[in-house]
Amino acid sequence: MIADNFGRPLTGLRISVTQRCNLNCIYCHKEGEGESQLEMEPEEIARIIKIATHFGVKKVKITGGEPLIRDDIVNIIDRLAKLDGIKDLSITTNATLLKEKAKELANAGLDRVNVSLDTLNPKIFSFITKSDFLNTVKEGIAEAIAQKMLVKINMVVMRGINDAEVSAMLEYAKNINATLQLIELLRTSSNQEFFDRYHNDMTQIEKILEIEATDVLTRRFMHNRLVYILDGVKAEIVRPMDNSEFCYHCTRMRITSDGKFKPCLMRNDNLIDFLTPMRAGATDDQLKELFRQAVMLREPFYKKPKE
Ligand code: 5AD
Repeated sequence: MIADNFGRPLTGLRISVTQRCNLNCIYCHKEGEGESQLEMEPEEIARIIKIATHFGVKKVKITGGEPLIRDDIVNIIDRLAKLDGIKDLSITTNATLLKEKAKELANAGLDRVNVSLDTLNPKIFSFITKSDFLNTVKEGIAEAIAQKMLVKINMVVMRGINDAEVSAMLEYAKNINATLQLIELLRTSSNQEFFDRYHNDMTQIEKILEIEATDVLTRRFMHNRLVYILDGVKAEIVRPMDNSEFCYHCTRMRITSDGKFKPCLMRNDNLIDFLTPMRAGATDDQLKELFRQAVMLREPFYKKPKE
């Protein structure tokens, strides 16, 4: 296991495999990436994740853009699922293409998906995603469940848009046996106005869940995130904004779609390019050194106030 200079172990990677997406969600932070069309090949993705397993990384989440847009996504999953050391492989998807791909993905070794779904109201769905794929998404989710995949629903809670839908979403999650992740809208360098208008600080929602929960657990290696056990359904609250606790329990690093280690979602000034050296013939030892350097650049974005 490798830890950074703040004593935080690195257990997970979040790797973007494309910036392409077939939706255009109003809140999307695009994983904090600068624009690039360059994408890694499946062999390159598998090679860098294998390097990471040498440092004890066990958990890999594939993101985008929309990862299922890649027509070689099954190949990518297949390669990653076969790597020794990877214990938890999952994908974050908008589920518009999940119905036709779930079976192949499950067969390739994918057992978990996170689906971005913020509303069950068709009008609000169109407003958020600039599309009318709500039913397609629901069908995709149903197929993933039919393929015995575990499903988590990502709901970004926005004031005046979908914050009145938390209980409807809980009910939906309960019916399909999914976990609901209630995600606080994140401020980025480019969405200040949007953030000011729609940010919901989650306090009210947290209070309601606290009252209704029969049990509350803490996920220590997931930003100390709270899990509420409710009647027949689990809900998690992801509350990163100005939250030093969140950052001090961060155990993950990102990899951009164009082959760079990205120590923090919120920063673009400390990336380490590994794809250029990899394509120029770097050895595994050289790539390991770049990985180690990137981990050592990890730093909590929201720091604890000085005592
Ligand atoms: N704030 C919070 N979460 C976001 N996501 C994307 N943009 C934002 C944002 N501005 C999350 C959503 C989506 C995942 C890919 O990224 O949860 O499901």
